[in-house]
Amino acid sequence: MIGVDVGTTGLKAVVVGPDGRLLGQASAPYDTLRPQPGWTEQPPEWWWEACRSVLGALRAGGALRPEAAIAIGLTGQMHGSVFLDEADRVVRPAIMWNDQRTAAECKEIEQRVGLQRLIDLTGNRALTGFTAPKLLWLRKHEPESYARTRHLLLPKDYVRLRMTGERATDVADASGTLLFDVRSRKWSSEVVEAIEVPPEWLPPALESPQVSGRLTPQAASALGLPAGIPVVAGAGDQAAGGVGSGAVEEGVITASLGTSGVVFSATLQPRVDPQARLHSFCHAAHGLWHLMGVMLAAGGSFQWLADTLRPLAEGERMEEKLSVLAAGAPTGSGGLVFLPYLAGERTPHADPFARGAFVGLRAEHGLPHLARAVMEGVAFGLRDSLELIREMGVSATEVRAIGGGARSRLWRQILADVFACPVVSLEADEGPAFGAALLAGIGAEIFASVSQACHTTIRLAERLEPERKAVEVYEGLYRRYRELYPLLRDTFHALSGFDAASGR
Ligand code: XUL
Repeated sequence: MIGVDVGTTGLKAVVVGPDGRLLGQASAPYDTLRPQPGWTEQPPEWWWEACRSVLGALRAGGALRPEAAIAIGLTGQMHGSVFLDEADRVVRPAIMWNDQRTAAECKEIEQRVGLQRLIDLTGNRALTGFTAPKLLWLRKHEPESYARTRHLLLPKDYVRLRMTGERATDVADASGTLLFDVRSRKWSSEVVEAIEVPPEWLPPALESPQVSGRLTPQAASALGLPAGIPVVAGAGDQAAGGVGSGAVEEGVITASLGTSGVVFSATLQPRVDPQARLHSFCHAAHGLWHLMGVMLAAGGSFQWLADTLRPLAEGERMEEKLSVLAAGAPTGSGGLVFLPYLAGERTPHADPFARGAFVGLRAEHGLPHLARAVMEGVAFGLRDSLELIREMGVSATEVRAIGGGARSRLWRQILADVFACPVVSLEADEGPAFGAALLAGIGAEIFASVSQACHTTIRLAERLEPERKAVEVYEGLYRRYRELYPLLRDTFHALSGFDAASGR
């Protein structure tokens, strides 16, 4: 079973045996275009090229034996918009999930549909990263591109198109478009009509384990795999990550430290937060939904610090160096608080103009304090989402930490102390790609259901208990953290419109 994750910073693929054993994994990085501050774009061709090179590397390394390949599952960054013309050619670079250009379009959608009606129908409010506002932006700002557009796809679904020739998506990824009726698991004709999206632009939305198509001879030769292998619908990265970490029962909570940061819980019913501070989406398992809070820069904040310092020490592994330094700083970073809103924020503030900050700097603070404060600030941001999930009546007795940042034992301990709750890691921490491979296995009837696939394959690794003293320190510091955004909000908004020429 092959799982392909079209991620934000690169594409990753895993090969999983029928017993759930990880046989191999490989990845290839790609860039993000930032044509203006707050804009993020990627040409879809990059994803396909990365897919070819990653599957090629897995073949070359022996982990992927083409004759043994059973099925492919797709996952990837959610909410992005791929605009295609009538011949399925890409019209312009895809606009990504963390792009912040659509504040005006979000207002327009909430006005056209009515905020409460929008929340009722889609489970969500209009957020700048979601897909629908991007379509309105294109209509207003690039009318020639809009006029050529005939189809709208999500990022992983472009890779599916190249693999199978089929346009399709899955209910979990579709939930992040703001065009989807999350309760009835189908496109919302009411929203689609209200914002004048041609309904024929939208692909069929399948349940995640359903077969969406088969590898065409052309794709098979490009990827070095046999033609005809089934490609299942798969899921957006958060729902696939939920499957890959066993968050398929209400009460199993995951906290993900990827570029974004997510606290995620499966629910047995669609539970909608009346103020839509949390996202309420379809899960990748039939008959399940999920709640999640999303931070835009979690691992991304740590990555920013590492990237900022990298030019000072070329050739050093900056992330590792910073982790070691952070471990030497005291709990609470000597009263230094980091606000992780480098890319604006979604949960809990839904504010594209929120900004990052270090607050409380003193002359005694050094790099160790800065590095640790970033980890702690991200943990506080995740706690905001965890509190909202608890408010929705989901009890959290244990949190599973997933995503690249969760490989750091220190960061996992900080999460346990900030959440005041045990944090466990997983043996196979490939998250979304692993989940996509399991979904492929269900489509190919290796497993009977999502829950059977999870029970057969997911093994917990280390469990970290909260430490009493640290919990106390973080309780106090979290209260200070909570005070800061409301205090700084107006300043953030003024600074986001900062004009270098006038200094205003
Ligand atoms: C989820 C979200 C991100 C992206 C990129 O709502 O926006 O997690 O899917 O990983």
